[in-house]
Amino acid sequence: MSKDILRGNRLEPIASNALKYTSSIDEDEVLFEPVKEINIAHVIALLKAGAIEKEKAEKIVSAIKMVNKFDKDAGFEDVHMLVEQRVIELVGEDGGYINLGKSRNDQVSTALRIVLRKKILEIIILIVDFMRTLLERAKEVKDNVMPAYTHLQVAQPITFAYWLLSYHDMIRRDVERLFENYVRTNMCPMGAAACAGTTINIDREDIAKNLAFYSIIENTVDAVSSRDFILEHMFILSSIMLHLSRMCEDIIFLSNNDIGILNVPDKFSSTSSAMPQKKNSVVAEVARAYTGIVTGNFFGIMCLYKSLPLSYNLDLQEITPKVWETYNIVYSTIEVIKDLISEIGFNEERSYDILVKNFSNAMELAEKIVIYYKTPFRKAHHIVGAYVRKCLEKNVSPLSKEAYQIFCEELNRENVSPLPYDEYMKTLDPKTSIFNKNIEGGPNPGNIISMIKEREKQNFVIKEIAEKELSRIENVRLKLNLYDFMVSGGDRR
Ligand code: ARG
Repeated sequence: MSKDILRGNRLEPIASNALKYTSSIDEDEVLFEPVKEINIAHVIALLKAGAIEKEKAEKIVSAIKMVNKFDKDAGFEDVHMLVEQRVIELVGEDGGYINLGKSRNDQVSTALRIVLRKKILEIIILIVDFMRTLLERAKEVKDNVMPAYTHLQVAQPITFAYWLLSYHDMIRRDVERLFENYVRTNMCPMGAAACAGTTINIDREDIAKNLAFYSIIENTVDAVSSRDFILEHMFILSSIMLHLSRMCEDIIFLSNNDIGILNVPDKFSSTSSAMPQKKNSVVAEVARAYTGIVTGNFFGIMCLYKSLPLSYNLDLQEITPKVWETYNIVYSTIEVIKDLISEIGFNEERSYDILVKNFSNAMELAEKIVIYYKTPFRKAHHIVGAYVRKCLEKNVSPLSKEAYQIFCEELNRENVSPLPYDEYMKTLDPKTSIFNKNIEGGPNPGNIISMIKEREKQNFVIKEIAEKELSRIENVRLKLNLYDFMVSGGDRR
């Protein structure tokens, strides 16, 4: 038998640089175990279809289990050829039944799905941990007011807890997306063979079941040529990173010396080799940068994919390393940002001062006039606008008697009666005014605890579902590896 089982009698040996250039073996190690399992499930399917005798099937399956060395440097095009070659070496010529009714094309898509579905569940569990950290921090800082910014200018008071919850909810939507992505990933291409199926009557649903898939990808051309489950996954990973990156941008900005609302612990910071006074938020900066790499990988894959003719093309192979690289970046980013958030400091005094000196409750003051005196909002907006401008010109803090005087003068100018002093103060003090935000979902600290509790319950369920599914897959895998030919193999010949 010629050593190169792939090229056989058809082709001359491949040039060594062509092999190096086109081989995926360097990136295939992660597919090694899944490929072996697919081969076991496939041989069982061949047996059940009556295409192979029980004794041969059994020999092949035990040979597959004996292939334990992922030999990167043995000159294989990929993991699929490695496994087949080693089985043939162990079994002899009968090992050559292994690729009956299948191809590397259905096999690689199946292996990618097996790896990815596990990664999806693992990242869901990691995100639940991250969300738990956000909620734990939110409990500690539920009354700590801080500015919400629009246009990077101080807008209105919220609380630090509310800021944390806003990111929590964005990222939780990514978890919902991951579950949907899981359903579409967990479908089995096997039986599609090269692209148009096979004359061997293998039970596709059965092979899917033995590999813990929900069902099959019905159309065989679709099965070998589609990678939209990966595109979808790459979008979700990008979305997670975009959310984390915005969070990091906030952290960098809010911990800047002039703002000083947040304090990034030293252990997540660096200094300058030249300027000894510096403390730089380097973890947040690198996370922001990695977001560019991740979204770039997503974009790169879309470019690779856009003009591929049906069905399989080797271009598809180059998607794989980008996915693993992206996944690793996202995983490590979530872990490090989680630790950073759990220890980040909040400077309440700074935050309060910034809110007050920037008239962060100006809109609330206008609303107060509307409700108190039945004044149209636009008129109230103009009164408060004039008052803010005058206070700024005179460098007067809104929580002072002078500011109150200015406000009453502006009301008077527009023929509106003066607002009682205590109403004015309650409206303008961010610490009290935040309690007036009673709208559903609003930043009233009174709502925060119930919002946190509700999210904690949901996150618990999310984690439980992901863990259950992980153990279901693992059980099916163990069962497949313990397949008993004496009991279950049905040789119909
Ligand atoms: N190494 C390939 C990949 O990762 C496997 C499929 C190769 N198929 C082929 N017909 N050359 O996509």
